[in-house]
Amino acid sequence: MADRMLVLYGSYRTDRAGIRLADYAVRTLQARGCDAELIDAKTIDLPMLDRMFKEYDEGTAPAAMKALAKKIREADGFVFVVGEYNRGVQPGLKNLTDHFLEEWYWRPAGIVSYSAGRLGGALAAEAWHATLSEMGMVVVSSRVSVGQITRTLDESGKPLGDGGASLERAFSRFADDLSWWVEAGKRQRAHRQPPF
Ligand SMILES: Cc1cc2nc3c(=O)[nH]c(=O)nc-3n(C[C@H](O)[C@H](O)[C@H](O)COP(=O)(O)O)c2cc1C
Repeated sequence: MADRMLVLYGSYRTDRAGIRLADYAVRTLQARGCDAELIDAKTIDLPMLDRMFKEYDEGTAPAAMKALAKKIREADGFVFVVGEYNRGVQPGLKNLTDHFLEEWYWRPAGIVSYSAGRLGGALAAEAWHATLSEMGMVVVSSRVSVGQITRTLDESGKPLGDGGASLERAFSRFADDLSWWVEAGKRQRAHRQPPF
């Protein structure tokens, strides 16, 4: 079975640029044979966190939250495409992520960060690493950081110039690393159920 990968992205801005990178990640993973799907926090638009999914009584959680919980539970791995706001994370994606906990456990995750400037969202990536580890994901050490996002990818997510070529190389290595851990996790789950 193809690896089931979720690509999560969470800017709510009208003129958001990171969607180019999220689309690029989905397309590139699909070209590698993955069953990859974009999880766009703005489209799903969960409410500001009140109850986590598990805190709802059976059958009372919003339908979009329930559907997303199922997708997260059934995924083999995750790619978080993260931008940086004021040296921190983007609230839309953080809000979506915080609705779940055990649903994320026992799978690998990779972080792909970006920014308008040259630093590529490195500080947001650091913050996400801690958060994803807290939520039971194993964060792979390979990371992709994309500076000058609108000069690196066009509006359709096509790589441009030297920056685009550099992204293609970095993403390929990143995806190799992540897919190794995805395969390891699938084998281990088939061999032995997670302990909790
Ligand atoms: C509220 C806000 C805060 C920002 N803070 C940072 C920052 O701390 N570091 C950075 O590199 N870029 C920062 N930027 C620029 C973003 O990297 C750039 O706008 C990027 O396109 C945001 O992602 P999005 O377009 O997907 O929303 C900020 C942008 C906004 C709107």
